[in-house]
Amino acid sequence: MEQIPVFKPLIENDEIQAAVASLELGWLGMGGYVGEFEKELKNFIGSDDRHVVAVNTGHSALHLSMMLIGLKPGDEVITPSFNNIADFQAILATGAEPVLCDIREDTLCIDIAKAEALVGPKTRAVIAMDYDCCLADHDAVADFASRHNLRVIHDAAHSLGSYYNNKKIGSFSDICIFSFDPVKTITCIDGGAIVVKTQEEVEALHEMRLIGMGQPASVMYGNQRAWTYDVKRLGFRYHMANLHGAIGLSQLAKMSKITTSRQMACKMYNEMLADIPEVRTPLSTFEDVTPFLYYIRIPAEKRQPLRDYLKEHGIDTGIHWQPGHWFSLLQNVRRGDLSVTERVGNEILSLPLHSVMDGNAQQHIIKTIQEFFNV
Ligand SMILES: Cc1ncc(COP(=O)(O)O)c(C=O)c1O
Repeated sequence: MEQIPVFKPLIENDEIQAAVASLELGWLGMGGYVGEFEKELKNFIGSDDRHVVAVNTGHSALHLSMMLIGLKPGDEVITPSFNNIADFQAILATGAEPVLCDIREDTLCIDIAKAEALVGPKTRAVIAMDYDCCLADHDAVADFASRHNLRVIHDAAHSLGSYYNNKKIGSFSDICIFSFDPVKTITCIDGGAIVVKTQEEVEALHEMRLIGMGQPASVMYGNQRAWTYDVKRLGFRYHMANLHGAIGLSQLAKMSKITTSRQMACKMYNEMLADIPEVRTPLSTFEDVTPFLYYIRIPAEKRQPLRDYLKEHGIDTGIHWQPGHWFSLLQNVRRGDLSVTERVGNEILSLPLHSVMDGNAQQHIIKTIQEFFNV
């Protein structure tokens, strides 16, 4: 039997046609498709007062966000330890230091009550990362940031299409970033975006994503470039390429199909696994979220045996994530009490969730988990 992968991108004829059209255009760098992708993403987020800048990965979106707020060596950024490596690396790339905070037991997102104890004279920003279907308490984050005069970087790599208190993700944060990597809810093969509030920020990001070149985006979106320009600031080669923008556009167009399928699959998992006492499922009705992954929590000593059992039955599983404070790189960074993160890091397990989930495959996964737990 073929293994059921944890992630499986939805690549259909539309994406293939879009890729062919963008290649046939002959303008392979940043061009019209990227401009169009930014426009459609802004429409999708549905906020007139926000601007979207597309880049080549979620990691570069984070790095540029850190640069945009002017982080420098010696500064500190509070981040959940339960986060993607990209967040820690983006902070470190500016010379600043991550400060590791615990997460809440219910949402697996940053515990703002615990973040209070971590604020110091060098704190400049806080990262609010939405973990899958569970969103951070963004009101509490905004209040915390305003009381301590901090910038907020909202890592929404998992939450494109979700709503927080009836507000679309991307429409209300100080700075918000998305990822469109190969396994995300929608993919550009690789891609990312930064959502900001001011034109000044947009212009700085346009330069920073193009190794500092002052090339007007309006010219590049006409599939042209200027040969003379000024370079005013540090930058990296982080722009999105036309091929990736074209694929992203066809993925965005099928967001509602992707959302419905993922919601249905998650509801099915929650319902069918509810009777297994040792399995904890996400605390979500999945009504107003587009879930990126489906996780369960099981007793730490059962996790590897369950993974092995599922593997024997053709089912792959994932671990999102090993907490940051387990990595050698972060041994010496400042941290608070991380007891919830420590526990969750040992219990968390991702089950397969695809953009169009095959019902038979899902029944096989559920049945195999029930067998393992003898229910
Ligand atoms: C929460 C989070 N932030 C950032 C990233 C980085 O995005 P990318 O893989 O596009 O660099 C990821 C990637 O998985 C992620 O899960």
